[in-house]
Amino acid sequence: MRVFVTGASGWIGSATVDELLREGHSVIGLARSDASKAKLEAKGATALAGDLDDLDSLRRGASEADAVIHLANKHDWGNPAESDRAERAAVETMAEALVGTGKPFVLANGLSGLVQGRAALETDESPEFGPDAPRGGSENLALEYADRGVRTVIARFAPSVHGVGDWGFVTFLADAARRRGVSGYIGDGSTEWAAVHRSDAARLLRLGMEHAPAGFRMHVVAEEAITTREIAEALGIALNLPVTSIAPADAGEHFGFVAGFFGLTMSASSEITRAELPWSPTGPTLVEDIKAGAYSGE
Ligand SMILES: NC(=O)c1ccc[n+]([C@@H]2O[C@H](COP(=O)([O-])OP(=O)(O)OC[C@H]3O[C@@H](n4cnc5c(N)ncnc54)[C@H](OP(=O)(O)O)[C@@H]3O)[C@@H](O)[C@H]2O)c1
Repeated sequence: MRVFVTGASGWIGSATVDELLREGHSVIGLARSDASKAKLEAKGATALAGDLDDLDSLRRGASEADAVIHLANKHDWGNPAESDRAERAAVETMAEALVGTGKPFVLANGLSGLVQGRAALETDESPEFGPDAPRGGSENLALEYADRGVRTVIARFAPSVHGVGDWGFVTFLADAARRRGVSGYIGDGSTEWAAVHRSDAARLLRLGMEHAPAGFRMHVVAEEAITTREIAEALGIALNLPVTSIAPADAGEHFGFVAGFFGLTMSASSEITRAELPWSPTGPTLVEDIKAGAYSGE
């Protein structure tokens, strides 16, 4: 397939491009800079110059491809409303371009806000609807297109898509630990995160694009639940720092914006995903990656 990938030069996107090319697909990657364009072309992908706000390029990329994998996100943690607005507009534009084609439209979401008190299931509907919701309610917006001839497939990523070179949430936790001289967890550290290695995430994105039915919510989850205390303890070992509890009231100051996620349980099952698709994760666990030094560099 000729696959249009947004966020193709990002953490998950670059592994996904490698996976797609390795498996015989061709890739058109959205590139917002010369550096991203060069990165894509060096791999043998084609670059389509454009920004998330440049809706014409998104429309063109989606129309010219056989499949779309949407991974770009502004991740403006200081102004999440702007990231959410852009996300909704981008999803709507690409979905409209795909109406009636039956082409796959795979798009990213996270697990925050889905459920509390138990592991999220693929059958749990996202409570986020409408432009004012987190991520602009893009999951539910895209799912509406499953009835309009688009093979929408949601990729709900574990909060840690980990590996060497990661710049996601665990990096911010490691940075906070270095800054504070202690590796912290919030309260009793019993809140839980799911996790997946980046290579497994990329493989599942490719399989979902190839085989998942319209309206399927994939859980990109290898490990269902790791306590945040276990994560802090692994960071403590890797960074050679003491491990301590941080009072919930002090978490914002201690960790910065990532406290809002570290204090949330985001565990999820991927049983339904594994029953639907020929996927079983093979990468290292999050704790193995941390202990092996994936987050030990500055
Ligand atoms: N990593 C995780 O653990 C995780 C967990 C849950 C959900 N997710 C979701 O999964 C998706 C991929 O995440 P990621 O970790 O790969 O993110 P990432 O490494 O931050 O990559 C984001 C990508 O979006 C592109 N981008 C940012 N602003 C853009 C703009 N204005 N116009 C066009 N492209 C823009 C970036 O382009 P440049 O390369 O040019 O900078 C980059 O390719 C995101 O939607 C993210 O929210 C990730």
